[in-house]
Amino acid sequence: MAISPPRNRLWWNEPIERVEIGWIVVAFLWGLFMFFFMIAWHFIGGQNLSTETYRIKPPAYEEKVVAFAEKYQVAEEDGTPVVRPPAGEDVYLLARLWEWWPLLELKKGQSYRIHLSSLDWQHGFSLQPVNINISVHPGYEQIITLTPTQAGEFGIACNEYCGIGHHMMTGRIRVVE
Ligand code: CUA
Repeated sequence: MAISPPRNRLWWNEPIERVEIGWIVVAFLWGLFMFFFMIAWHFIGGQNLSTETYRIKPPAYEEKVVAFAEKYQVAEEDGTPVVRPPAGEDVYLLARLWEWWPLLELKKGQSYRIHLSSLDWQHGFSLQPVNINISVHPGYEQIITLTPTQAGEFGIACNEYCGIGHHMMTGRIRVVE
């Protein structure tokens, strides 16, 4: 029971203020515009990459990444293999609690097909500072075609909360001239 109940209990039968209906229309049209603009972002948004996606069992994906890392490993840093695949090669990266594995070394100006999947949880691949973001799911292998345009060291941060070690789940991609 309200302290001062409205005199007319059927308040939803009251006519709507003109200003209010105006704002409802504006908000609705803006929502529609943003919805259909998603198609435009696909073409003009450099950060929204389109991916190919395939189903794969996590152990099968792990096997592929390990074989790839063994084949092209050139060094080791902090217990993580540094892998330098030849230009144009398929490149594999995995996410798991709580690391990105292995450390990739790519060549500037060359195109690579980067495969991404998770072995356990949902993780978020966030490449910094260029701000490319992709959700990484177990059971799905995603492939993006990437051509690094600048040399340097790029950080991968996990941006989907994945448990106690989430804040430590970082990786690196190195781009050399
Ligand atoms: Cu992985 Cu957060």
